[in-house]
Amino acid sequence: MSQQPIGVVGAGTMGQGIAQVLVQSGFPVKLYDVADEQLTRARGNLDKGLGKLVTKGKLSETDKDAALAQLDTTTALDALRDCEVIIEAAPEQPALKEKLFRDLSHLTHDAILASNTSSLSLTRLAGVCERPERVVGMHFFNPVPVLKLVEVIRAEQTSDATVARIEQLATDLGKTAVPVGDSPGFAVNRLLVPMINEAAFLVQEGAATPDAVDQAMKLGAAHPMGPLQLADLIGLDVCLAIMEVLQEGFGDPKYRPCPLLRRMVDAGYLGRKSGRGFHIYE
Ligand code: CAA
Repeated sequence: MSQQPIGVVGAGTMGQGIAQVLVQSGFPVKLYDVADEQLTRARGNLDKGLGKLVTKGKLSETDKDAALAQLDTTTALDALRDCEVIIEAAPEQPALKEKLFRDLSHLTHDAILASNTSSLSLTRLAGVCERPERVVGMHFFNPVPVLKLVEVIRAEQTSDATVARIEQLATDLGKTAVPVGDSPGFAVNRLLVPMINEAAFLVQEGAATPDAVDQAMKLGAAHPMGPLQLADLIGLDVCLAIMEVLQEGFGDPKYRPCPLLRRMVDAGYLGRKSGRGFHIYE
């Protein structure tokens, strides 16, 4: 019997990275997006990403072709009907994710429905599904091909079998699964994003320039990139949305988003993806 495909919903940065590590590890993938042009871009980026590995001698040309042949793209959600696991990596909008999970749970009886959400409640997402015990968080980190962590988030309703399957899948992708409870921001973003927010306060108060903040944390705390470079990589809109989830979820003023961060998002300065954030990108 041929291997059942893994579905990926959303062909943005995270969806592309997840699809890349899946095909690289030999899994057939169905990548879904509403926009055809985004799927074309995703295929091109996967080709480039795998091509880099060939250049470095980490992947043969034959293995690259075999990996790309595992990628199927579609604008029809129905096409994911035969997937064993579906990993949702759509934009971080609660109403959109809830609709997707509702639709997916009607579409397939047996598939595990995993969300790459960076901070939303898995228990709530599971609540809109017909078989909530199949719903789980599978949170990857950007850049997905490089970073080894997958947070595995258990909703109140998630079964042990679902968690075990997702932990196994993470291992098959060469990642390390770390179990985390369904608490706002989970573990990494609850620590990382308030640090970024505090870095924005430093800049807002004129206490340090973005370059100074970044250099300080790289040289003084051995971070691979400074917090504001990281904000630009993650996307300032995503950072703001995570702060809002933390603030609402905990009701604690220590999670108030920095006004400068909010202004930058309002101005469309979203980081690398818009060419300008705390730093300028050509
Ligand atoms: N895709 C694939 N590979 C990539 C890549 C990408 N986008 N970016 C870098 N790489 C690879 C490079 O090819 C290189 O590979 P080799 O070692 O095999 O040559 C390796 O990663 C290191 O890259 P570079 O030498 O170009 O640059 P670097 O050493 O400065 O590393 C970095 C770049 C990996 C991004 C590193 O700075 C880093 O790890 N930064 C922190 C990133 C981080 O914290 N991410 C988490 C964000 S939070 C999140 O994602 C969760 C959320 O919900 C918001």
